[in-house]
Amino acid sequence: MESKENTEYISKLKKKLGENLTIVAHHYQPQSIVSLAELVGDSYKLAVDCSNLTSEFIVFCGVKFMAEGAKILAKDYQKVILPDLTAGCPLADKINEKTAFDVYKKITEKSENKIVPVVYINSSLDMKIFCGKHEGSTCTSSNASKIIKYYMDRSISVFFSPDYNLGINTANYLKINPYDIIKIGSETFMEKGHDLNKAQLFLWNGFCYVHKEFTTSDIDHLRKKFNDIKIIVHPECDEEVVNLSDFSGSTQKIYDMIKNSPSNSKWGVGTEATFVLRIADEFPDKTIFPLRNSFCYDMNKITLNKLSNSIKSIIDYQSGENELKFEIKIPEQDKIYAKKALEQMIKITGS
Ligand code: 13P
Ligand code: SF4
Repeated sequence: MESKENTEYISKLKKKLGENLTIVAHHYQPQSIVSLAELVGDSYKLAVDCSNLTSEFIVFCGVKFMAEGAKILAKDYQKVILPDLTAGCPLADKINEKTAFDVYKKITEKSENKIVPVVYINSSLDMKIFCGKHEGSTCTSSNASKIIKYYMDRSISVFFSPDYNLGINTANYLKINPYDIIKIGSETFMEKGHDLNKAQLFLWNGFCYVHKEFTTSDIDHLRKKFNDIKIIVHPECDEEVVNLSDFSGSTQKIYDMIKNSPSNSKWGVGTEATFVLRIADEFPDKTIFPLRNSFCYDMNKITLNKLSNSIKSIIDYQSGENELKFEIKIPEQDKIYAKKALEQMIKITGS
């Protein structure tokens, strides 16, 4: 179906469902989907905003960990739909609960400090359960510094996973001594030469392939072309890329900074290219370039066709014609600890 026809069809279905439906879109979604959504934002904003919704159906245009987060925080009667259930996040798959538990056991046995897990929201359900079971907290790119600082202030060390870059960039922001940081991974287990007893931060060596693409040469290239350009990147980028940039932050921070900047300002942006190209269209009075065209394959699995199929399935389900398709289902017992980890993040962030 053509995109215009699809949009009109989805708008009709939305009218039919009225207040029973909320469409939610992450910033990495294209304009065609964002313009149909009631809520748009970064992972944190969407998690919190979704938890305040009352509609029976929430259609989440994003990837699985985000829709799972919405389901964990949802009320019992609410159903969360992901238009393509295969839309995952390769970063989230860089560690699983079993490996995390083994590592956690080893480091807690050797360390004199209490250690808690801080798990990036870009993680599997199992990892969130692991985190909640061990009195930890999830975090997002918008609140990682607040969450890590919360534990440091209480002399509690942190086992941070799965994204190394978010961990090290946050540690740099908090000015944590590099000798108090230990990088760990399955192959190497642990970097040598650090005092384990004193370590404040254990960083798992996961990464996002979309953000690994950006290099310092991309920044040099844009600065040579435009001497007044500002560079803003996502903290999943490599440390040297973040250090060379003017600003770094979550997708919502990137969006807000560019939106609130003066007309004619120039921006080089280091994050997913669908988002950067979308904001370049939204703010034609500004010059906005992606540092390079790096796309998230999974985010781009959500299409207008799949969105309309998923909403059609809700209507068929309501009329008793079909089972509900594309629903995120989480067993009640799994929700308990995952919810604890998410609620701890919301509590610390709001404190
Ligand atoms: P934000 O929380 O900044 O929206 O990031 C989500 C993400 O997946 C970045 O790659
Ligand atoms: Fe995951 Fe990277 Fe895609 Fe974000 S951009 S959803 S971290 S793969």
